[in-house]
Amino acid sequence: MSVTTAPTSKADHPAIASKLSVELGKRGYDIHVGRGLIARAAELIKPVLHQPRVYIVSDSIVASLYLEPLEAQLKAAGIRCDHTVVPAGESSKDVSHLAQVLNAMIAARCERSTMVVALGGGVVGDLAGFAASILLRGVDFVQIPTSLLAQVDSSVGGKTGINMPAGKNLVGTFHQPRLVIADTDVLATLPKRELLAGYAEVAKYGLIEDVPFWNWLEQNGSAMVGGGESSHELLRHAIMTSCTTKARTVAADERESGVRALLNLGHTFGHALEAEMGYGAELLHGEAVAIGMVLAFDLSARLGLCPQADALRVREHLQAVGLPVRPPRAGRNGAVTPKRLIAHMAQDKKVKDGAVTFVLARGIGKAFLTADVPLDKLEATLAAAQAA
Ligand code: GLY
Repeated sequence: MSVTTAPTSKADHPAIASKLSVELGKRGYDIHVGRGLIARAAELIKPVLHQPRVYIVSDSIVASLYLEPLEAQLKAAGIRCDHTVVPAGESSKDVSHLAQVLNAMIAARCERSTMVVALGGGVVGDLAGFAASILLRGVDFVQIPTSLLAQVDSSVGGKTGINMPAGKNLVGTFHQPRLVIADTDVLATLPKRELLAGYAEVAKYGLIEDVPFWNWLEQNGSAMVGGGESSHELLRHAIMTSCTTKARTVAADERESGVRALLNLGHTFGHALEAEMGYGAELLHGEAVAIGMVLAFDLSARLGLCPQADALRVREHLQAVGLPVRPPRAGRNGAVTPKRLIAHMAQDKKVKDGAVTFVLARGIGKAFLTADVPLDKLEATLAAAQAA
């Protein structure tokens, strides 16, 4: 994997932009991270186009901020632009919005050489990437992630898909983007709650395998999500560190037959919580992951695998930056009980031969996979966390 850091050529500030590569042979691609990158999108995208034409998918909030200037810039560079906009929020990641996007692309007579551009957060990236992967049996796409969560996780690695009534991300494909453009300036317009939700995915990389990064987050996390001029450089460092781990993991195990599954730390619990809360504003994906990571460390400690002090550190740091750490007690269908959560876990994509695979930890930075989790310990962990 190659990583380069260089002064941005056109930026009117001293910040730097960095580039790293996902090494996947012919399907490999670059990730650009830094300030002012959307203003340079045409220059960055042009080399990966097959024809001077893009089809942009965005959501109502992101489109109101960035779609017009992006299209103006691409058109000025001689690139034809068409677009469709879906409502902001997780509820757009479903079959009906997938159909809307595909129908709009077909109506615009997209061709196999047309580049799809996903301009938005994780929902838009997953939805547009999935649409690109099946339109005309597959067209290329570029990710312009506009949330911290998308910049550090979902825009890299080629997981695309939609939710089904029975669970999250149950339908989808592996389809790698041709390019990722992560402009840290856009994070300034992100509501604090969304920024924090992305922070959970940043913290995940420290908890899985990177103790120095976790220590750095304990020192700098609050300033990083606190806004202000100093937060840009902290964010760029955190995004680069996260993307470096993600890129290396994806290159080693693109289709998640091994080590990539560690990136699901907190997600088995998190997806069960999201199913109970209804995939809406009640509990954001990153918030569910934060609670899920606390539960994974609590369970690891209860099983005698991980020092109790590490589980406490995880809970205390995530709480200190402002993330929720306790599973909600009530959801869209009444009480959220351990039994109900466990029933959701049994429907997870990661179930193998009927057993749920968990990402547990022997300590901070020491995550591992196991299907060997006694039900009574799992129930006790969930009940204790709800009562905490
Ligand atoms: N979000 C986990 C992965 O991409 O594998």
